Amino acid sequence: MLILFGALGAATAAPPDCATCHRDIARGFARTAHANASRPATAESILGPFDAPANRLNTSKKGTYFVMERGEDGRFYQTGVDGSRGRKERFDLVIGSGRRGQSYLYWRDGLLFQLPVSYHAGTARWINSPGYEDGTVHFGRGIPPMCFGCHATRAEIEPAGRSVRYRREEMILGIGCAKCHGEMPAQHASGSGKPDGLKTCAACHAGLAEERPPAPDVHGDQAGLLRASRCFQKSRGLNCVTCHDVHRVQREPEAFNGRCVACHERTACTKQPDRASGCVGCHMPLEKSKLVEVQTYRSHRIAVYGRKK
Ligand code: HEC
Ligand code: HEC
Ligand code: HEC
Ligand code: HEC
Ligand code: HEC
Ligand code: HEC
Ligand code: HEC
Repeated sequence: MLILFGALGAATAAPPDCATCHRDIARGFARTAHANASRPATAESILGPFDAPANRLNTSKKGTYFVMERGEDGRFYQTGVDGSRGRKERFDLVIGSGRRGQSYLYWRDGLLFQLPVSYHAGTARWINSPGYEDGTVHFGRGIPPMCFGCHATRAEIEPAGRSVRYRREEMILGIGCAKCHGEMPAQHASGSGKPDGLKTCAACHAGLAEERPPAPDVHGDQAGLLRASRCFQKSRGLNCVTCHDVHRVQREPEAFNGRCVACHERTACTKQPDRASGCVGCHMPLEKSKLVEVQTYRSHRIAVYGRKK
């Protein structure tokens, strides 16, 4: 079972107690997208540029623009200018490892709000935060704990007067060991239990209920797509960890071909695939997301593509 608000964990990497014994796993894990899914904003974690002219984002409206700057206090700030009016807020937290993009949050009265400018990794540029209207300066979008259910190990809110606020001191950023493993008994050995390689993942990789489109989207719904594959339906035990080792960075699609031929003979494919193109390129192609239009994702519906239906 997934522990959405596990008690263990450190700011960005493995909790020290897991790392004491599982050293190699913890070291490899610290570099993964999960471990870095949310972090404090620092020179290292913010990927967008702060040097002119790349630190400025113009909008379609004349006189309305944003500037990203390093303050004299060594912290980072975002200023939105609309004619003669300006508003400046600090980068406090980063959401997104940066593989595709990052969004930034600032603290106000114990609550978190999104900054209007985000970072797009594909073009290495600042962009309007997704869903923000071009030509406007808007600092008011609150970030609910729901986001951290998938992007952090722990983030809870408590009542504060007539409002609520985050239990800021107890937040655990990044997706740590405990998020998937729960609280391991202090003494354990082989056979003490591993998380389920599909249910654990589907808690975060099955899309958002309120934005679920008629067909599973390649953004965030890998579980829905995998379940729609004949490979999944016709085999027993195919799940996410058949292909993924979440304890290390795995980015080369070719490296996954071995997983296909563990079940399929190389000769099963009438296309007589060569080494170079691999299985994944044709049967799990990159597809454009309908939810996040600027991005393409690896389709997890393993199938023959381009065939007439
Ligand atoms: C607590 C929510 C959560 C759980 C549980 C979870 N993931 Fe993720 N996963 C994410 C988020 C969020 C990202 C994107 C992180 C980022 O890039 O900022 C991600 C990214 C990934 C990536 C991309 C890695 C990369 O290098 O870019 C893979 C692969 C992945 N997850 C597989 C899995 C598998 C397999 C499981 C189950 C064993 C799993 N995830 C469980 C939330 C989760
Ligand atoms: C995104 C979910 C996720 C996170 C985060 C995660 N694990 Fe795992 N871990 C799994 C799953 C799923 C398995 C079972 C893999 C299998 O069945 O092959 C597993 C297996 C293991 C195993 C058993 C040996 C092995 O490789 O199969 C160890 C030890 C382990 N994890 C330690 C850790 C430590 C230490 C951390 C933090 C540094 C961590 N895990 C973070 C999901 C996760
Ligand atoms: C005192 C040392 C120690 C600590 C601390 C520790 N482990 Fe382990 N763990 C072991 C040993 C020893 C094994 C058995 C050999 C192996 O798989 O490496 C093991 C095995 C495991 C397994 C495999 C269980 C199975 O069914 O095969 C998982 C999963 C795991 N540990 C996760 C964790 C997580 C998560 C943490 C942190 C909360 C943690 N461990 C902390 C020593 C430790
Ligand atoms: C149900 C789990 C879930 C929730 C809730 C969720 N996300 Fe995500 N988010 C993901 C996953 C998974 C990814 C990685 C993309 C993928 O796997 O297709 C991601 C990616 C991202 C990214 C990086 C862009 C990208 O595509 O890589 C940002 C930024 C982000 N989410 C912000 C948010 C914010 C802000 C909220 C709250 C409004 C939120 N997320 C709520 C699961 C979730
Ligand atoms: C756990 C075993 C397993 C793995 C791993 C696996 N498959 Fe399959 N796959 C199957 C089974 C079983 C079928 C159904 C065969 C049938 O219908 O006779 C299938 C069907 C297919 C089909 C036909 C799909 C359709 O809609 O007609 C393709 C193409 C395919 N697999 C390619 C792949 C590729 C490429 C990979 C690696 C990315 C892969 N498979 C990984 C077991 C697996
Ligand atoms: C150049 C693109 C390409 C590559 C690379 C490729 N395939 Fe295929 N594969 C296809 C196409 C197209 C078909 C459908 C052929 C047809 O309908 O006659 C197919 C058919 C299949 C089928 C049979 C599906 C059915 O209808 O029963 C399987 C299984 C399969 N491929 C597995 C693989 C595996 C495993 C690899 C890697 C070793 C691979 N393919 C590499 C394009 C490719
Ligand atoms: C048959 C092998 C296979 C299985 C099973 C599989 N994946 Fe993947 N996955 C891949 C390949 C290949 C990639 C592309 C590698 C890359 O570019 O990072 C990938 C990429 C991803 C990514 C990064 C998405 C992107 O486009 O950047 C996420 C997230 C992910 N997988 C999650 C999952 C989850 C969750 C499951 C289980 C529901 C799962 N995968 C099952 C092969 C697989």
